[in-house]
Amino acid sequence: MTAMQITGDNLSTVEMTKRFGGVTAVNGATVTFQHGKVNGLIGPNGSGKTTFFNCVTGMIKPDSGVVTYRGRTIMGKPPHTIARAGIGRSFQLCRIFPRMTVLENLLVAVRTTRLSALMSGSRNPAETERARGWLRRVGIDHLEHTEARNLSYGQQKLLELAGVLMGDPETIMLDEPAGGVNPALIGRIATLVRELNAEGKTFIGTAHGLVDSWG
Ligand SMILES: Nc1ncnc2c1ncn2[C@@H]1O[C@H](COP(=O)(O)OP(=O)(O)OP(=O)(O)O)[C@@H](O)[C@H]1O
Ligand SMILES: [Mg+2]
Repeated sequence: MTAMQITGDNLSTVEMTKRFGGVTAVNGATVTFQHGKVNGLIGPNGSGKTTFFNCVTGMIKPDSGVVTYRGRTIMGKPPHTIARAGIGRSFQLCRIFPRMTVLENLLVAVRTTRLSALMSGSRNPAETERARGWLRRVGIDHLEHTEARNLSYGQQKLLELAGVLMGDPETIMLDEPAGGVNPALIGRIATLVRELNAEGKTFIGTAHGLVDSWG
């Protein structure tokens, strides 16, 4: 590891390790992801990809190592601080609110939206318009009043991605974005990733193997 790698805007880990009892899920990972690019984290089942994501985004604490982003240490910071630093993420098992509508899911994804305001029906018009913009962008705006549980799995992944985009992250970590999604929607997700990357967003995606339509 050289000083070169932890300067600049890149997201990097140095010797990051996470154990669960006797299982070493992440073993001294030293990785630098290129800012402004589409990066991949490839490995078979159980190789530690999700644990790596959880460590980087502050959802679990690594046992040792360093995580830096834009030249600053982010390891040990809580998830909302890391999110505010510009790193957004999706989950391997989609995290959405199944009984809320598609639009409501996006409005609760925004930290400036108070749940009480949402429940009482008083929405921030600017946030609602922004949410509709992302729904159009990911191609599910026609479903805005549909309860999220009635979406196909691929559509739920697109909804989750729109929720991540509501946070305006500059780096987006996608855990198995193609997993369990039908080929047509994989194509749409891949196209979105390429377009958003061309607009300046950095991506880090996990997969079990190389996915042709990526990058
Ligand atoms: N919370 C946990 N408690 C105990 N063991 C865990 C926990 N999370 C993950 N593990 C173990 O850590 C190892 C890495 O799991 P992880 O889910 O990070 O792998 P992965 O590469 O994301 O796998 P997949 O491709 O199936 O998503 C596995 O052996 C798993 O059983
Ligand atoms: Mg995983």
